Amino acid sequence: MMLERAFGGRRVLVTGGAGFVGSALVRRLIASGARVTVLDDLFTGRRDAIPTGADFIEGSVTDEPLVRDLVKRHTLVFHLAARNIIASTANPRDDFATNIGGTLNVLLAARDSNLERVVYTSSASVYGNPRSIPINEDDRLEPLTPYAVSKLAGEHYCVAFYESYGLSVAVVRYSNVYGPYQRPENPYCGVVSKFLIAANAGQTISVHGDGGQTRDFTFVEDAVDATLLAATHPRAEGEVFNVGTGVETSVNDLAAAIGRASGCPMNVEHIDRRDIDNIRRRVVNIEKIRHMLRWSPQVTLDRGLEKTVRWFEETGLLSPSTPAAEPTAPRGLPGRTARPGK
Ligand SMILES: NC(=O)c1ccc[n+]([C@@H]2O[C@H](COP(=O)([O-])OP(=O)(O)OC[C@H]3O[C@@H](n4cnc5c(N)ncnc54)[C@H](O)[C@@H]3O)[C@@H](O)[C@H]2O)c1
Repeated sequence: MMLERAFGGRRVLVTGGAGFVGSALVRRLIASGARVTVLDDLFTGRRDAIPTGADFIEGSVTDEPLVRDLVKRHTLVFHLAARNIIASTANPRDDFATNIGGTLNVLLAARDSNLERVVYTSSASVYGNPRSIPINEDDRLEPLTPYAVSKLAGEHYCVAFYESYGLSVAVVRYSNVYGPYQRPENPYCGVVSKFLIAANAGQTISVHGDGGQTRDFTFVEDAVDATLLAATHPRAEGEVFNVGTGVETSVNDLAAAIGRASGCPMNVEHIDRRDIDNIRRRVVNIEKIRHMLRWSPQVTLDRGLEKTVRWFEETGLLSPSTPAAEPTAPRGLPGRTARPGK
């Protein structure tokens, strides 16, 4: 009801709207009566993930004239388009062009339009190895990967445009988002989808190190709620918010929870290879968003995993009760190594 009031009839641009979080956001925006355009170059996004009712422009946020033209025809922008941590590590220059250059294109176009707000989706990876947990928004920032550098640069540009030009912006820092529509064919999907598919196929799950590394796993609909609030709440302007659960979960515990939710046996092997996202502990403090925007996560890990498993079963990605006898790799899956994620 409140969402309908906030978004009904509004023209909203979602960059990266063919991706995992973006498509969930678009679904909610359309349900609340918004007129949504998706800009996505389908790098990891899928055309068939774009919810019915959205206009789709296939193109890149690096295309400055295209971005300028699109932004000026909308009143709100959710800027999610980004190269992910694996692509970014493999090709930092490409990451630079999209995650930094693309963000600058969006902000410059927004500055020169009558835009109400730009919401930018950043990542808890900007904290690097935290000195203490849970991590507060104003704790030390220590980007340790090219991806973390570019996501942080995007944040800094957002705040700088707010301070220098008065552009209304809000930044959300997601922590390991998981849930339905996080498709395993995407080689960069998070650890939840990878574990689920591997376990369902009767495969051994490879975990980096001892599996004691921790993350804060956030259900996608909770992340979407926080993102929508960041777009509309007056107190969100110019602010940066952690979006997580405040609950620290080890990779070993995650594997056990996935086993419970899916009914699949979890055969975990521990391997030594260094992970790309080599952070030992990560859990974010969500008091700021809880207090200022009155947002709090609604879905526990167990419940979120149940919903995720159900979606995987409904889409035929998981067979409900018959794990394959022979460990065969699902088509298009790059490997079975567990990575705690972005
Ligand atoms: N999923 C997570 O755990 C997580 C955690 C922290 C931050 N984030 C941030 O949330 C946002 C969405 O992530 P996601 O998990 O949905 O990833 P995703 O890869 O599913 O979505 C990103 C989308 O951006 C598109 N894209 C990439 N480069 C583009 C370009 N140059 N022009 C236009 N579109 C482009 C991709 O095709 C894809 O559809 C990203 O900004 C990401 O940095 C996600």
